[in-house]
Amino acid sequence: MKPTVAPFPASRLRRMRKTPALRALSRQNTLTVDDLIWPVFVMDGHDNETAVASMPGVTRKTVDRVVKAAIEAQALGIPAICLFPYTDMAARTEDCAMAWDPDNLTNQAIRAIKDAAPDIAIMTDIALDPYNINGHDGFVENGEIVNDRTVEALVKMALAQADAGADILGPSDMMDGRIAAIRAALETEKHQNVAILSYTAKYASAFYGPFRDAVGASSALTGDKKTYQMDPGNSDEALRLVERDLMEGADMIMVKPGMPYLDICRRVKDAFGVPTYAYQVSGEYAMLQAAAQNGWLDGEKVMMESLLAFKRAGCDGILTYFAPKAAKLLNG
Ligand code: PBG
Repeated sequence: MKPTVAPFPASRLRRMRKTPALRALSRQNTLTVDDLIWPVFVMDGHDNETAVASMPGVTRKTVDRVVKAAIEAQALGIPAICLFPYTDMAARTEDCAMAWDPDNLTNQAIRAIKDAAPDIAIMTDIALDPYNINGHDGFVENGEIVNDRTVEALVKMALAQADAGADILGPSDMMDGRIAAIRAALETEKHQNVAILSYTAKYASAFYGPFRDAVGASSALTGDKKTYQMDPGNSDEALRLVERDLMEGADMIMVKPGMPYLDICRRVKDAFGVPTYAYQVSGEYAMLQAAAQNGWLDGEKVMMESLLAFKRAGCDGILTYFAPKAAKLLNG
């Protein structure tokens, strides 16, 4: 549909920009607290937090501190929190058995949050990298990241998280066939109401650098993730992946990273009209924070503008490390 524009001066588009009231009336997209999912890093220990150097303002938190954060997020009206574990190097193994341990950090945190903040939705990450000695999202055999054996492990991981009480599972591994396998297992094991937010179009991106520091995966990772994450030059492939994940039983789909991939968000939303999310990843957060700390950008303003851009691109929500800060601003 082509927008109608009468010839000047019948049409003066500045008329509707004249006052805050007119601008509010004619604003097409808005950001609300309902749009936010807050990713948090969980570590071992008690009553402690450590800073993530490359993500100013972000800390890794012990389970009790994550519970406090969840209570705060719930009070702010943030609908969901997403958990990422920082695993000790010594606990990382080739068989990744800790990934489906009912008492691993993620599963401990899920139970503790469910007790203390029952209204906030809990999202998880499904991938082997926090537990894998070589930092990859799947098992490595003779240098190859193998698909099918990895999917079997991801299913065990998913069931352990669902048993612990997770509301939304987030497979971030990019193996083929994992959504169907996880959905089938959830049905069989009476977890039919657990939702899947698939990391569907996840690109092999350098913007994940600070996250890998946060979870201690930078030094562990051998090679890169290009045989399973998407090529940044591709766009049509994202649509094939979305269709496939929906057919396999995903409830929501994600594009990741966010800001450099807003074209993908728009194409996906236009093509499928399903609940669509973007992950404003660690490197995007780090860029904005670094510039703000230098006084080169107005931190609050670029934060809000960047989040609104996701809404304009068609997203229903955003995973962002800015979630509590943005929620406080939105709540006045
Ligand atoms: C791992 C995972 C990554 C992120 C979320 N889950 C990193 C990766 O794929 O190497 C990145 C999040 C961020 O950068 O904020 N499966």
